[in-house]
Amino acid sequence: MPRAAREAVQRAGLDVDALLAALTAAAQAELSAYYRHTVLAAHSHGLTEAPVRALLADLRAEARAHFEALVTRIAELDGPLPPTLPAFAGPEGRGEGAAPPYGTDEEVLRELTAVVERAVRAYDELRAATERRDPRTHALAAALLAGEREHETWIREARGEPVSPRYHPGFRGASPHLAR
Ligand SMILES: [Fe+2]
Repeated sequence: MPRAAREAVQRAGLDVDALLAALTAAAQAELSAYYRHTVLAAHSHGLTEAPVRALLADLRAEARAHFEALVTRIAELDGPLPPTLPAFAGPEGRGEGAAPPYGTDEEVLRELTAVVERAVRAYDELRAATERRDPRTHALAAALLAGEREHETWIREARGEPVSPRYHPGFRGASPHLAR
């Protein structure tokens, strides 16, 4: 089945290795975000406002769900999934690079914003690259992009800024755009 999926995507004219590289980079970034949000949440006890603590918990759940969805698609396409975490993540990991263990709420919100902005760019590119050629990856990229757009809203909400009336707080942390 993975071979068949890979060949179907190849026949549609996509460079499967480039597609897998993009999916893998995105999965590495989500995994890195999951780790980073966990560290920030662990440092946040008593140091930060409740909205930022809640945001960290929800974004951590989202990063994990996004990572799992990407790995599923990589496996469907017969992509490389090494057996150990260091082999997958690489020595430097992916994402934000050097950052302090914890900063002020504003610094944390800035960091979270940068993570979301990078993800928006990556999923937008993935969505464009797969349009009409790989419907399954295209739908996944669109769902992930919609999720990241929601995350932007959650960050605005944690900052106390006005948010769209279309926003549904009950979705936070539950990855509503991803098919289960
Ligand atoms: Fe994400």
